[in-house]
Amino acid sequence: MDSARQPQHAPPRSPFRGPALPLGLAVTAIGILLSLGGTPSALSSPAAHQLPLPQVVQQVPSVETDAVAAADPCTDQAVIDAIGAADDAATIAGFGGADAFRAAVMAGNAPCIALDDPAHVWVVVNKTRPLNPVDFAPSSLVQAPVQVTTRSGELRPDVAAALGELAAAAAADGVGQIGANNGYRSYDLQVRTHDNHVRNEGQASADALSARAGYSEHQTGLALDLVACAPCGSIEAFGGTVQGAWVAEHAWEYGFIVRYESGATGISGYSPEPWHIRYIGVELAAAYHAGGYHTLEEFFGLPAAPDYVG
Ligand code: DAL
Ligand code: ZN
Repeated sequence: MDSARQPQHAPPRSPFRGPALPLGLAVTAIGILLSLGGTPSALSSPAAHQLPLPQVVQQVPSVETDAVAAADPCTDQAVIDAIGAADDAATIAGFGGADAFRAAVMAGNAPCIALDDPAHVWVVVNKTRPLNPVDFAPSSLVQAPVQVTTRSGELRPDVAAALGELAAAAAADGVGQIGANNGYRSYDLQVRTHDNHVRNEGQASADALSARAGYSEHQTGLALDLVACAPCGSIEAFGGTVQGAWVAEHAWEYGFIVRYESGATGISGYSPEPWHIRYIGVELAAAYHAGGYHTLEEFFGLPAAPDYVG
């Protein structure tokens, strides 16, 4: 089942500011009443139905019509065209921007958007949300445009371009070179990677730092692990480097988030990984940063995913 097409969201958390239109409508309705000598409480009062105020009566139907139209942005031709072109940035723009996009998805008003579709920047993969299909592979991959310390240095082309910009900006800011460890990992490589961890550390420790096959963001081509160069260090050392500090502060400007932050294990399911960045596009990353979010689960109002189900 396409879980994103069903109401699946927890109530909005405190950073969520809600859809702009209903709030605007409420403010407008209150303003109309106030300008006519009414009070906000009159809005919910039975007496409101008896107000001899034709302006108010005439305003309400057009307001409701607008609200209904805004509730289904997937019928907007710009959105339909953007989805047809697989243009995620244009799709988000068609919704009216990242905040409106997120609000529509969280409200269940975006049937054309599936948060479990691994071909889009808004996909949410975690221990309760496997890739769909589980053996998904991106349609296009290119080599990361930075020094790569393994043989798994491929990324989606848009992600590789964003990484190149990020690395160039870091160097221009004087923090040194940023390299990549693992980028894309296939389902089969994730099997081998996770099995190695289980053999070396046991199941519980392995599950705290390595996704089981079919549950890794690396399989989407949207995620990669960073290292500081040169010479390039380990991923574990990255958080303690000037490059790591720079990435924590600036990654969002290039469309990335640090996916597994310190203090978020109970939601993300993984130990902190300051080296693992995930591309969600510049529009969503800016909203994520502005809202002060620390996990994608909170950003989209999804349940915490501390462990596998079964
Ligand atoms: N290390 C992250 C959780 C992964 O294996 O995808
Ligand atoms: Zn990673």
